[in-house]
Amino acid sequence: MRQFVVKIPEGLAPEQAAPLLCVGVTVYCPLSHFGLKKSRLRGSILGLGGFEHMGVLIAKAMGHHVTVISSSEKKREESMNVLGADKYFVISETVEMQAATNSLDYLIDTVSIPHPMDDYISMLKLDGNLICWVSSRPLCNSSLLYSWRKTITGTFIGCMKEIEELLEFCNEKGVKSSIEVVKMEYINTAMERLANNDVRYRFVVDVAASQT
Ligand SMILES: *[C@@H]1O[C@H](CO)[C@@H](O)[C@H](O)[C@H]1NC(C)=O
Repeated sequence: MRQFVVKIPEGLAPEQAAPLLCVGVTVYCPLSHFGLKKSRLRGSILGLGGFEHMGVLIAKAMGHHVTVISSSEKKREESMNVLGADKYFVISETVEMQAATNSLDYLIDTVSIPHPMDDYISMLKLDGNLICWVSSRPLCNSSLLYSWRKTITGTFIGCMKEIEELLEFCNEKGVKSSIEVVKMEYINTAMERLANNDVRYRFVVDVAASQT
């Protein structure tokens, strides 16, 4: 029985398949599970790192309108011009935040420190989902949930079936994530750079091309 083997579709480069097996499926799983694969939805992703960059690419490939919400201006150019996000705003821009009230079908929150969620919940539409990943201790005002039937939920990585679907999906849509392919000899430097947050956005180790 084949339990932990997936077929890489023809046309998908192995180095592109690699990050889909982890960060890719982690984003794909909630979108698929909560019925958010439909086109024309409006979604938002909080922050922009390795996980979030994949989130923007996958959500755009699904045909969503994607807003990146960040703590600074730093990632605006990249979000809009490289990843193809539709909108970008900084958390401190209260006017922008208020203008987004009741506008989103979902918001993906990967911030790993406890933080108030009321502002993000307010941005969700009726029946909207706030999808948490690694977010410890959601803090929120429950009246924001019941009056608009909103949900705070979460998923963890994903299953084999979703990985297979995602590989097919990314191959079909031509989703290409930002990766840096390195050889095994480079691994110590890569680990140091990883610790310094100095990679856009994932290292992929090319084992076949490495010295033995
Ligand atoms: C919770 O939200 C409701 C509706 O916006 C508001 O009336 C109430 O004062 C809030 N409660 C707290 C504790 O902030």
